[in-house]
Amino acid sequence: MIGMEVERSHTSGVYPKRDLEIVRGQGAHVWDAAGREYIDCVTGHGVAILGHCHPAVVRAVQAQSERLITCPEVFYNDQRAAALELLTGMAPEGLTRAFLCNSGTEAIEAALKFARLATARPGFVATMRGFHGRTLGALSATWEPKYREPFLPLLPGFRHVPFNNLDAMAAAVSEDTAAVLVEVVQGEGGVRPSSPGYLAGVQAICRQHGALLIVDEVQTGCGRTGRMWACQHHGVSPDVMCVGKGMAGGVPMGAALLGARIPELSQGVHGSTFGGNPLASAAAVAALHAIQEEDLPGRAAQLGEWLLARLCRIASQRIREVRGLGLMVGIELREKVQPHLLALQERGVLALPAGPTVLRLLPPLVIQQDDLERVADAVEGVLTA
Ligand SMILES: Cc1ncc(COP(=O)(O)O)c(C=O)c1O
Repeated sequence: MIGMEVERSHTSGVYPKRDLEIVRGQGAHVWDAAGREYIDCVTGHGVAILGHCHPAVVRAVQAQSERLITCPEVFYNDQRAAALELLTGMAPEGLTRAFLCNSGTEAIEAALKFARLATARPGFVATMRGFHGRTLGALSATWEPKYREPFLPLLPGFRHVPFNNLDAMAAAVSEDTAAVLVEVVQGEGGVRPSSPGYLAGVQAICRQHGALLIVDEVQTGCGRTGRMWACQHHGVSPDVMCVGKGMAGGVPMGAALLGARIPELSQGVHGSTFGGNPLASAAAVAALHAIQEEDLPGRAAQLGEWLLARLCRIASQRIREVRGLGLMVGIELREKVQPHLLALQERGVLALPAGPTVLRLLPPLVIQQDDLERVADAVEGVLTA
């Protein structure tokens, strides 16, 4: 309790906070300061793909922190090399280089800057309900008015078109468009999967006009949707793919992966003090290996299918629609979600919103079936109470 009071006095105030002080985590579980256990389907907004304190990540961070924590990219580093090799080796074909940074929004900033460099064009097309981050470039691509309006004017050149609508996309993309920016499943915008054929259609429109396709896999990547990268469900090849969240097992990291249509970048055009630091790189190597070795994308596909079917069977007038892909699941309600999130917390399950009426579940991909059953039972209990 003292921790909460101290934090309230000194924090910036930009976060809507719950009265819960989380002090420890292991696997799919976290504990509050009073020792109460919760099943974590918030996972740091989708970061803890490997659960909390995965032993391989803990070992890698421990070992690297005794060897070398910081080293800028003007020097070479063994851990960074290993992370780059592994990441590009696991990426969709053609993404052979990466700009390493520290968050999802920085990966988007890099993608936007590189797209302008590569095309010498000013324009970007993004989608309604799309979310790409809070820095001014990424915010210009983000749709939600309440995030944007306090900061107007944002960057010029950005347009938003309805998601899953190819006619609107075709009408918006022109010879002035540097890139189209799209999520495979809109996360913050309400857990909305792209329709079959949509991304392939967007890719074709981009190619027709010489625009780049930037796929934002910050929330959908690293196995979350049942494939390593969600764009692999749709057979598209992004020109730039942005990743973040769980790629380093919970240590802050982001990356913009670059394809052949991003030419060699000249020295000094972009950079980051902490980007590609050895600690995050060592954590990424451990995390990406674990995702592969434990076949977490396969687990997400199998458990996600079970969870979606189970949630669809809940008979509640409160539910408008259940949707998702892999272990990225949203339950759209006919009413506000906030009271239900608190009721779930009372039952020992942490879940998050995706907009005012969508209850979002982002469990760790290592979650056990019986924990997932407890989550589904709690959701049923809350929505039928
Ligand atoms: C799709 C997507 N892109 C970008 C971001 C921004 O990532 P970060 O909060 O690490 O800056 C997020 C964060 O939720 C996201 O979901």
